[in-house]
Amino acid sequence: MVLSLSSQNVIQYLRDAGLCSSEDGASDKSELPKNSKKNFNLLVTLADNRNLLVKQESITNNDETPHEFFNEWLFGQLLGQFPVLGNISAIAPSVLHFDQENSILVRNYLSEYLELGQYYQKNDIFLPEIASAIGTTLAGLHRATFNRREYKDFMSTAPEGQFRYGFYNPAQGINSIGPDIFGVVPTDALKFYVLYQRYESLESAIADLAYNWQPCCLTHNDLTLNNILVHSRWEQLDNCLVRLIDWEACSWGDPAFDLGTLLASYLQIWLSSLVVDPTIELEESLHLAMTPLEVLQPSIVALIRSYLNAFPMILEYQHDFILRVIQFAGLALIHQIQDMITSRKYFNNSDICMLQVAKNLLTMPEQSVLTIFGISESTILKPVANLHKLPQPEKEQQLLRIYYEKTRLRGC
Ligand SMILES: Nc1ncnc2c1ncn2[C@@H]1O[C@H](COP(=O)(O)OP(=O)(O)O)[C@@H](O)[C@H]1O
Ligand SMILES: [Mg+2]
Repeated sequence: MVLSLSSQNVIQYLRDAGLCSSEDGASDKSELPKNSKKNFNLLVTLADNRNLLVKQESITNNDETPHEFFNEWLFGQLLGQFPVLGNISAIAPSVLHFDQENSILVRNYLSEYLELGQYYQKNDIFLPEIASAIGTTLAGLHRATFNRREYKDFMSTAPEGQFRYGFYNPAQGINSIGPDIFGVVPTDALKFYVLYQRYESLESAIADLAYNWQPCCLTHNDLTLNNILVHSRWEQLDNCLVRLIDWEACSWGDPAFDLGTLLASYLQIWLSSLVVDPTIELEESLHLAMTPLEVLQPSIVALIRSYLNAFPMILEYQHDFILRVIQFAGLALIHQIQDMITSRKYFNNSDICMLQVAKNLLTMPEQSVLTIFGISESTILKPVANLHKLPQPEKEQQLLRIYYEKTRLRGC
């Protein structure tokens, strides 16, 4: 990497790249809060009021130039190459510039949009309309690219000087750990690795999920609420309520992975609001949450229903689609815990609860459907099935709750 971007040299950089003229100047340059552990992000407002997001990937420890922006750029190229994907280009802000040598990417910054994670945090209201718009948007991406050879071939392009032998399978467990872990993670967090390794059923569920990973369409692969923007006046708009950003991990992948990652991001709102105490059982903690699961369920159900409504064909291709979404959500929770440990050096009792829930989602997906959605698989599918004549499941699953419905108070 040649250039290290800063608020001092960013304007000169944009001028050299032809993205602003010397008269343009900048009225404002601000560093965006560090959401991500790996990128340095600058928001630049030019004199003509254009807002640009300038991202630079951090130099990795081994000093190799990272190549993750390449995928985001490649996605932009795909949209340019195949105008028939026009509807999809509306869901992502356009990439204006990509500099592979310095790992810099410039995008249009949509100032009238808000990051959904922050929006939920501030408002603490979860209207199903937003989740429904996300479901329809995501289904549009998956459906438009589903089983299309030309898009798959395009996405297999590798950065210059590299080869791409296959698409990365993101259904991976935690790597085996060695003695070096002691210097890297806080002592409290060792419990996470001990528990993870103790659950054999968990490791085998992840191995099955990886084995059954079915890449069949373009996937975002990092679909958390932080990577979704919602229009600040979404209630007055008919469309384009949401935009998807941060396409660094996008690839040819399994649609259940995207939906599972998003589901996990909703579940995290619930799981990070638990009241955790060594004297309280897990099921009690889950019920004493400041943001109860019941508050999120209308959004979660709207998300999956609107997705299936816009892309019912996926159910013919993957009969167990909903169960795999649940399992991928469990896997995403495990990765979130691990990210917290490695990037923020943070682990506490609520992460142990999260691990338990993740394990249940991965190892008992049938039972977890009722817990997570609050309704059975056939009830989720009913409105979709009525509209699209779906094949009916052969028999109703025996559904059990994975925790008790009523909170039992200690000593009562
Ligand atoms: N086009 C945009 N419009 C508005 N906000 C954006 C836009 N792009 C990024 N952001 C904000 O900047 C943050 C970081 O951008 P992102 O592409 O997700 O980078 P990172 O890889 O660092 O997560 C986002 O979480 C969001 O808050
Ligand atoms: Mg991001």
